[in-house]
Amino acid sequence: MVEVEVGTRLEAAEYRGLRAAVGWSTPPADDAALQAALDRTWNVVAREAGALVGMGRLLDDGALYATVWDMIVVPEAQRRGIGAAILRHLLERAEDRTIVALVATAAARDLYERFGFRDEDGGGTGMFLRPSR
Ligand SMILES: CC(C)(COP(=O)(O)OP(=O)(O)OC[C@H]1O[C@@H](n2cnc3c(N)ncnc32)[C@H](O)[C@@H]1OP(=O)(O)O)[C@@H](O)C(=O)NCCC(=O)NCCS
Repeated sequence: MVEVEVGTRLEAAEYRGLRAAVGWSTPPADDAALQAALDRTWNVVAREAGALVGMGRLLDDGALYATVWDMIVVPEAQRRGIGAAILRHLLERAEDRTIVALVATAAARDLYERFGFRDEDGGGTGMFLRPSR
C-alpha cells in the first residue's frame, strides 16, 4: 500500500536517490545546503513498504505565489496515480494563491494539464536563468 506523507521532512540523501532514479543529476550543493533547501519547502512524499517511491515540493510565499518543484515517482511505481496524488496535496496547500507555476517535463505535461495547468496565456513568457551552471 502506498502511504503519502504531507508537510514532511525529506533527507538530502533520499532526495539525491529519487533524482538519480529518474536520471536527474543533483544540483551542486553540499548536504548541509541541500538539507536547508529541502527544509524550506513544503514536501509531500510517497512510501511503499517503507521505501520512498515519490516526492513533490511546494515553494510558497504563503499568500500570493507558489511554485511546484521536483515532482518525481520512481520508474517502477509510475503510472499508478502516485504522481497525481502528490500533486493533489501540493495544490490543496496552494489553493488560495494568485499563481501556481511550474516547469513541466514532457513526461509530466499531461498530468499537469489534467489539473488545470496551461501554457502562460496572459501575453507573458516564463523565463529562466541558471546562474550556477
Ligand atoms: C511525471 C511523474 C512524476 C508522474 O508520476 P506518475 O506517478 O507516473 O503519475 P500518475 O500515475 O499519477 O499519472 C498521471 C497521468 O500523467 C500522465 N503520465 C504519467 N506518466 C507519463 C509518461 N511517462 N508519459 C506520458 N504521460 C504520463 C498520464 O496522463 C497519467 O495518467 P494515466 O496513467 O491514466 O495515463 C513521473 O512520470 C516521473 O517521475 N517522471 C520523471 C521525472 C519528471 O519528469 N518529473 C516531472 C517534473 S516537471
